[in-house]
Amino acid sequence: MSGLSFFANLFGKKEESVLGVDIGSSSLKVVQLRKKQGRVVLETYGELALGPYGGAEVGQAMNLSAEQITETLKDLLREAKVTAKSCGVSIPFARSLLTLVELPYRKDPREQKTVIELEARKYIPVPVSEIQLDWFIVPEEDPSQNAPKEKIDVLIVAVHNDELKFLQSVITGAHLAASFYEIEIFSTIRAAVGEQVKPVMILDIGAASTKTYVVEHGVVALSHAISVGSQDITRAIAVSGNLPIARAEVLKKEKGLEGGESLSSLELVFSRIFSEVRRVLIQYETAHKKSITSIVLTGGGGITKALDDYAKSIFSIDVHVADPFSKTEAPAFMRSVLEEIGPEFAVAVGLALRKLEEM
Ligand SMILES: Nc1ncnc2c1ncn2[C@@H]1O[C@H](COP(=O)(O)OP(=O)(O)OP(=O)(O)O)[C@@H](O)[C@H]1O
Ligand SMILES: [Mg+2]
Repeated sequence: MSGLSFFANLFGKKEESVLGVDIGSSSLKVVQLRKKQGRVVLETYGELALGPYGGAEVGQAMNLSAEQITETLKDLLREAKVTAKSCGVSIPFARSLLTLVELPYRKDPREQKTVIELEARKYIPVPVSEIQLDWFIVPEEDPSQNAPKEKIDVLIVAVHNDELKFLQSVITGAHLAASFYEIEIFSTIRAAVGEQVKPVMILDIGAASTKTYVVEHGVVALSHAISVGSQDITRAIAVSGNLPIARAEVLKKEKGLEGGESLSSLELVFSRIFSEVRRVLIQYETAHKKSITSIVLTGGGGITKALDDYAKSIFSIDVHVADPFSKTEAPAFMRSVLEEIGPEFAVAVGLALRKLEEM
């Protein structure tokens, strides 16, 4: 231990490695970060597909038991040489409930809290005792002193206790310690856009589904899941070319939308995803009387070659691919790899960043 870190510890500034753990439907992802003199350093990262643990191919969404996921996570921690024990863990969007509601304003914060927690019950389809509830008050657009405030917008977030128990058993089974569980949307936002003021749309194209959120002033203004994901592209390529899934998966990654015979099946699936995305986009723009200024592609499906150009041609707005590792420091020779694989790791990076803020 160097003298410097001894002093840092003496003054209570412990610079410990932290871990982000993303339990996706098709693969587990981990990212280990450490703060060094105020900089965020990438120490290690890794991914392990769940498919082979359940008799399926890489890239396909799985429905594994907590025990199977625990085993996979232990293998991943070993393979990636993870040393950190303290982590943050993602909660799948599909297992959570997010609603934006308009509620009466109360000047007294305690009274406001009571109003929100009472009203929230009306929007949650299960007894409050079965869930964990959280909420955020959406900041006002242009707070005017004169007009008396009557209503506030509140984002209500709920997660079922069973889901948390499931995740907790995986984490303790893998000998990790989680200090928070976060719905993946918030992790992605932290890693992919940050404190963006203008409305931005994020498309997280996972294996099982595509999650789409509109982020404004760093807050989720709208969220929606589309039950079509990148595994459906692999399946479409397999069917149209009469190929095994494993071969179709390789082809998808090699060529993407850059050409070849499989192009039409790719376009077919993406156009299904994008037509639903367009619906969400228009719904937001109509309700808020504002236009979305850009689209950020993330998730493994967001890596698809030439997808950004294809999306640009469909939506006619700025489209770019998320680069979450740009928020971390890593050796220069790794930059191009990190940039390429980044979208798959957005959730894990976002979790590790929050964990670092906590230290
Ligand atoms: N280079 C690539 N080109 C195209 N698709 C890719 C590429 N890399 C990964 N994918 C696809 O991305 C998907 C995995 O993405 P990701 O890891 O974000 O999903 P997940 O988090 O497991 O799923 P979900 O978010 O739905 O729970 C797989 O279907 C995989 O085939
Ligand atoms: Mg995911």
